[in-house]
Amino acid sequence: MHSQQIRSTFLDFFTGRDHQLVRSSPLVPDDPTLLLANAGMNQFKPYYLGETPAPFPRAVSVQKCARTSDIENVGRTSRHGTFFEMLGNFSFGDYFKADTIAYAYELVTKGYGLDPERLWATVYLDDDESIRCWERIGIPSSRIQRLGKEDNFWSMGVPGPCGPNSELYYDRGPEFGAEGGPAVNDERYMEIWNLVFMQFGRGEGDGKTDYPILGELPMKGIDTGMGLERLAVILQGVDNVCQTDLLAPTLHTVQELASRAYPGSGAEKVSFQVVTEHARAMAFLIADGVLPSNEGRGYILRRLMRRAVRHGRLLGIDGPLLPAVTGSVVANLGPAWPELTEQAGLIEQVVRAEEESFGRTLRQGAKLLDAAVRRAEEEKTGTLSGETAFELHDTFGFPVELTLEAAHDAGLAVDEDRFAALLAAQQQRAKSGGKTRTAAALRRMDAYRELSARHGRTDFVGYERLTAETTVLGLLDGGQQIEAAGEGAEVELVLGRTPFYAEGGGQVGDTGSLRTAGGAVLEITDTRRGLPGFHVHTARVVSGEVRAGDTAQAEVDGVRRAAVARSHSATHVLHAVVREQLGRHAAQHGSLVDDGRLRFDFVHFSALSEGQLEEIEERVNGHLLADPEVRVWHADRAEAERAGALALFGEKYEEKVRIVDIGDFSRELCGGTHVVHGSQVGAVRITGESSVGANLRRIEAYTGREALLSANRERRLLRELACLLGSRPEDAVGSLRKRLDLLARAQGEVERLRGSELAAKAATLAEKAEVVPGGVLITGRVEDVTAQELRQLASTVAQRVAGGVGVVVLGTTDGDKAMLAAAVGGLLRDSGVEAQHVLTEAAAVIGGGAGGKGALANAGGRHAGKLADALLVARAAAAGILGRRFQ
Ligand code: SER
Repeated sequence: MHSQQIRSTFLDFFTGRDHQLVRSSPLVPDDPTLLLANAGMNQFKPYYLGETPAPFPRAVSVQKCARTSDIENVGRTSRHGTFFEMLGNFSFGDYFKADTIAYAYELVTKGYGLDPERLWATVYLDDDESIRCWERIGIPSSRIQRLGKEDNFWSMGVPGPCGPNSELYYDRGPEFGAEGGPAVNDERYMEIWNLVFMQFGRGEGDGKTDYPILGELPMKGIDTGMGLERLAVILQGVDNVCQTDLLAPTLHTVQELASRAYPGSGAEKVSFQVVTEHARAMAFLIADGVLPSNEGRGYILRRLMRRAVRHGRLLGIDGPLLPAVTGSVVANLGPAWPELTEQAGLIEQVVRAEEESFGRTLRQGAKLLDAAVRRAEEEKTGTLSGETAFELHDTFGFPVELTLEAAHDAGLAVDEDRFAALLAAQQQRAKSGGKTRTAAALRRMDAYRELSARHGRTDFVGYERLTAETTVLGLLDGGQQIEAAGEGAEVELVLGRTPFYAEGGGQVGDTGSLRTAGGAVLEITDTRRGLPGFHVHTARVVSGEVRAGDTAQAEVDGVRRAAVARSHSATHVLHAVVREQLGRHAAQHGSLVDDGRLRFDFVHFSALSEGQLEEIEERVNGHLLADPEVRVWHADRAEAERAGALALFGEKYEEKVRIVDIGDFSRELCGGTHVVHGSQVGAVRITGESSVGANLRRIEAYTGREALLSANRERRLLRELACLLGSRPEDAVGSLRKRLDLLARAQGEVERLRGSELAAKAATLAEKAEVVPGGVLITGRVEDVTAQELRQLASTVAQRVAGGVGVVVLGTTDGDKAMLAAAVGGLLRDSGVEAQHVLTEAAAVIGGGAGGKGALANAGGRHAGKLADALLVARAAAAGILGRRFQ
């Protein structure tokens, strides 16, 4: 059975049983506690927690998931992957254990045709009810096992819903190992489906133990997850995920690149599987907007890429690997996951750039490693220190496995314990930094959840109006609910109805004021979303006292809102123009839509030229000045997509979406506020373009009134410059150019004069030559020269002494400072005389040290008054050196 048929069989089965089909959320979740989507239930978490009412009682999905905690297992077992597709059915307060178990059994035996005799089930310790359900349906008690918390109690790994589960296993047969059921052998008995009975909620923990269970969930339910890959392994009768139709074409590509056949030796088999599996994960991550970096999800991606390249090298693939393997993923899985095809160009560019930069890292690391290995050999320690291995890993991104290999080849051990300790300490530091932030955020989240569960979603009226009658539903201080707040207090405010737009889609939150019926006046300084659909206002009490329960009048700062709206509409037009000018890959990757200015990040691989920027600015303004109508409409997600609406990278949208059209050239899914007609934006002035990360560029611009003000600032600057130059602004450039030419000529003249002055000085000094045993000595004091000129002079004079047997010592002062320079002739140099030795003692006399090497040395010190003494000392030293040479 082809994977596409496995998916559709699943979806058809459950949509036929009244389940709402919900599309996969992006891999980048809309949940601050999660780095990457790791289960089908992620996007439904607010329903179980009662934060948002579930819009349907049953759902079914195929969810893109990433789990990298057991990355080391990937390639070593037949079933681990960093990326997988999870088939899941869900109930929110609807059916529970008996129906779930019945559905699962019916689908695997009838829908997928698995042999009922090979099915096993596990249940949580005392879950007798599940045992009865399985038995009733046809699995005998001999094939049902009870397991503990490790296996049969499912949690997200972060605060959230959890509950006992029951798992369905398939016996792959004796060729996969010993019998005894899943409790003894999980390679032979392969878990295929996890049925979770969502019952409890976990809260924030102390970071040491598990997140504690807080109590029963407001909305109990069912969350199941079946691994598409594992089912494909069974139904396609193959040994390994990489041989299923999901990955086989990619495995094939790897074999071609490596010019050898899978599986090969044990180690080769692992490498084949790592490259194949990771290629798919990286393609999906990039398609959802993750770019390689050194932290968070970007780091996960980078690690996958580097691990793949490393295993590619182990297979003998030295040339580019990633573009070809991700290309095959796109070709193979693009029909099922259109985002892969849409982002094919981006995926290619990103993996190519990262592979090249990793190549450089490897070369640089290899050099450092060679040096370290040589040092260790010289010092005969027999060990490469843990510090070296750690530095290579941490600073240069050089994989420790490669360090181990190279050390091994050189017959050295690596202090792995020390390395592990350093790594653990660093991870601890990284973790504790993150923990405190998350802890504070989680405390606030709990308060929001409580308020939202009590009062429901915020009634947002700000698309139509800037003022509203409202009620203060809650006051929060540092995440704690309080009853009242007096003058000067900074609080968070939850309102029943609000005209304030909450920060989102790049657009800043609204500001304004609130007056309570009791006469308190509050300044609203920001508005954000505490939970989806739940606005939280940051406020300062200007006068009076505000109490929970007060009725109030809310008013948005309309001037600011209008300026923000201008920036938002300008951003949409800019997005359209950037894509039109640079290509479809240049998708938005974050933005800031602010009062009078905007920042727009997008994917592109090189800097934009002045000409390109001018062209973009020109087109944006051209579109806006034609005064296109801005139209807002609502539709189903699918309908919007058919209509060609641009969805932003990795953003999660509801099934009902809001669409903003500007004329006929921009159509985006957007929840923001906009102008009504294009010309209301006024001017858009691009002020800069820069790089904000690998393959990410940023355009910054002013809009509306700010655009005008910024032009005025520049005009003022130009006037000032013109005034200084004594010209009219339009002649300023010509005038400045003339002056620069003049200056360059004058500088040339000065240098020429200076040169002849120095030559004259050199001639005078050469006359002072005294012949001593062993050579010729010239010492003297010169005035009005820089340190560099002093050295140059010493060296010129030394070259003039015939036969290369001169020693020249010159000194000068500059304020309190004394400087010395010594030069030795070519012949003396050849016989080993060091200029520095001439100055060693003299330097001490002026209170400094001597530096320099070979033919030329210098010294500087704070005692200008000692220069004459120092010259005498240097002269004596030079005479001594020459005398010894003579003997
Ligand atoms: N949430 C459960 C899992 O991820 C079932 O979907 O295994």
